[in-house]
Amino acid sequence: MADATSSEELFETIVSKLMAEDFAIVDDFLDESACRVLLECLVGRQKIGQFRQAGIGRGAEFAQQQTIRGDEILWLEKEDSEPVIQQFMERMESLIAYCNRTCFTGIRDMEAHFAVYSEGAYYHRHLDQFRGNGNRKFTFILYLNFDWQPSHGGCLRMYLPQGDTEIAMDIAPQAGRLVCFKSDAIPHEVLPTHALRYSITGWWLEREKQLSFLG
Ligand code: OGA
Ligand code: MN
Repeated sequence: MADATSSEELFETIVSKLMAEDFAIVDDFLDESACRVLLECLVGRQKIGQFRQAGIGRGAEFAQQQTIRGDEILWLEKEDSEPVIQQFMERMESLIAYCNRTCFTGIRDMEAHFAVYSEGAYYHRHLDQFRGNGNRKFTFILYLNFDWQPSHGGCLRMYLPQGDTEIAMDIAPQAGRLVCFKSDAIPHEVLPTHALRYSITGWWLEREKQLSFLG
């Protein structure tokens, strides 16, 4: 893992872009060996059947709609996870602490899941805040795909406001690349993938996870 000084520089790059433009993209958030171990861990958990088809919305609104969203997910728990997941969570917590310290963002918690898109899967354009749940302030995605090729498709497409219109920006899901954006501000989609596509997706929350269940 990177030493403290270079981490601070990377954190500053991410946070200043996030505050200025509502999104940030950096490569090498985790080094190659950590990404490989995370990927092994993901694939191992998938092999033993721990992943579930992802749904849209929460509670009564939850519906398994593969026509909208084709990924399978596994929620991560810091307590019961492998060391590499704990290290990743801790690095993310350090980034959140840096962001709170320098920008008073008041982030209190986070949630994250592994995601797998099999061939042909995609996720239609959406925002990452459900109706009645404003708890998600920022989204992050760490990609875990080595040797991703343009022919594999599967880019994240972000729609960025520009004057009265918007521009589409496509980001390849390369291993080690971290994308962050403001959850209620950036519509986005996952274009159909032609190869298995692996990632960790998560959210920085304004309130603690348990409290969000109480409304
Ligand atoms: C999501 C999402 C984007 C990606 O899980 O909400 O938009 O690039 N993921 O995986
Ligand atoms: Mn999303």
